[in-house]
Amino acid sequence: MEIRTVGVVGLGTMGAGIAEVFARGGLAVTAVEADPQALARGMAALASSLDRAVKRGKLTPAQSGEIAGRVTQAGKLADLAGADLVVEVVPEQLAIKRQVLTELDRACRPDAIFATNTSSLSVTTIAAGTAHPGRVIGMHFFNPAPVMRLVEVVTTVLTDPAAAGSVSGLAERLGKTPVQVSDRAGFVANALLLPYLNHAVRLLETGYATREDIDRAMTLGAGLPMGPLTLLDLIGLDTSLAVLEVLAREFGGTRYTPASLLRRLTDAGRLGRKSGAGFYAYPDGGQVPDEAGLAAGAPGAVTLLDPVAGADAASAGRAAALAGLLAGAGIEVSRDPAAGSGLVVVAIGAMGGVLDAVAEAEAGDRSADAVGIRLVNAELAEVVPSPLTSAVAMDKARALAVKAGLRTVTAPDRPGLLVGALLYPHLRDAAAMVADGYARPSDVDSAMTLGCGYPRGPIRMLDEAGLAQAAAILSAMHAAYGDPAFAPPPLLMACASAGLALAPRG
Ligand SMILES: NC(=O)c1ccc[n+]([C@@H]2O[C@H](COP(=O)([O-])OP(=O)(O)OC[C@H]3O[C@@H](n4cnc5c(N)ncnc54)[C@H](O)[C@@H]3O)[C@@H](O)[C@H]2O)c1
Repeated sequence: MEIRTVGVVGLGTMGAGIAEVFARGGLAVTAVEADPQALARGMAALASSLDRAVKRGKLTPAQSGEIAGRVTQAGKLADLAGADLVVEVVPEQLAIKRQVLTELDRACRPDAIFATNTSSLSVTTIAAGTAHPGRVIGMHFFNPAPVMRLVEVVTTVLTDPAAAGSVSGLAERLGKTPVQVSDRAGFVANALLLPYLNHAVRLLETGYATREDIDRAMTLGAGLPMGPLTLLDLIGLDTSLAVLEVLAREFGGTRYTPASLLRRLTDAGRLGRKSGAGFYAYPDGGQVPDEAGLAAGAPGAVTLLDPVAGADAASAGRAAALAGLLAGAGIEVSRDPAAGSGLVVVAIGAMGGVLDAVAEAEAGDRSADAVGIRLVNAELAEVVPSPLTSAVAMDKARALAVKAGLRTVTAPDRPGLLVGALLYPHLRDAAAMVADGYARPSDVDSAMTLGCGYPRGPIRMLDEAGLAQAAAILSAMHAAYGDPAFAPPPLLMACASAGLALAPRG
């Protein structure tokens, strides 16, 4: 069926944007909202979004007028009698959604398709309560709907494939990328995003790293558009907690069990930006502190140690790169631990091992002065103390990295350090989702790039990082913490040992 007329029920945060998407796509939209004030707000939000598009030259005033003219306001569901498709965008409560669908059963044509924009409820449960469950489907838009290109099209065991085809075809006509998946908690994007955000909270609450360093590790170190704690503040801590609870019920395990701190902040009313404070206080929150002033404290000469021989293949190259960078910043670099005094820099890799390197170099008497530095990329260094490192040495090491033109995060000497400890379990979850047949690599990558703004999808990131490196870090994390959530899935191990990519690229 070619969908031409649609109803949107609920014109709140998401509904107004979804109505705009349909109207921009040339469809006739009837918007039904229970609360007159919410209707006025929703229509005003739609109008101001179109005005912004005109100001930015994306639409002409005439086009904006045509789009607005396609949206009709209605007070009751009976006004949707002629709709080919009705999308419900009412609050995330099963009772409300069921009530709306029961009324739609009475109001609409028998061949109309009903879509739910639910993020966390079971589409199957919603469908099973209706007269025509074969025509009930999930159509999960991302916020803001006019901007984000991903639409997760969620089918249930009851869904008529023709209805799924019509809805996916419509999403494409609207300029979106549909990813068709079965009904499972969190679908693709939220099932991958939320456990990663939860892990970031756990690293904060256990004192693994500071909130700023956690966020900076993922923006500067992994290239993500926003740090996880800043993102939680944006999504809302209460919303995130609710989605995690649904995921925990479905999947169990530490990745999904909400971190205590997330629950406590929610209990305290610190819900993120919307309440004025979450992990950060707003409006100033989340700003990255400037480190430039630190450079003055950098020593003029250091001793550089290689990491433990054979720690990993790239270690010699890393030491040479760090030596070059320091020398380029005018710092005298000695490679002989027996000579000299002052700061000892260990050019560690993602596996860490500061004290092992000091012991191997028979430089145990300089342990308090030894600090690991890992070059993550051209912008960021992880600065890593051992349990014996003095505070003075840490300050000098950060100053040194800043003088060499890098930004820094402080990470404990644990497998993956900070960037890898956050990133690899996240990428592992994506590989596990592919391995268990829920989504194809291209769907996983589309979901995270188009729904969450990632510059590259997690499967591509894994392939680019090297599966052997990923498997080694995950195995070390699994051994260190004993949590099966870190164990590399067999598919990743198999591809790593065969030298294959998870998603071959043309
Ligand atoms: N907010 C997000 O970022 C986001 C993203 C993706 C999906 N979702 C999902 O979209 C749905 C709506 O979320 P939201 O954030 O837009 O909620 P919201 O509270 O902002 O809007 C819901 C609207 O529905 C209206 N409503 C309630 N009962 C109604 C009825 N019987 N008939 C007509 N209108 C009714 C309310 O008055 C309200 O304006 C939820 O299922 C949510 O999980 C939200």
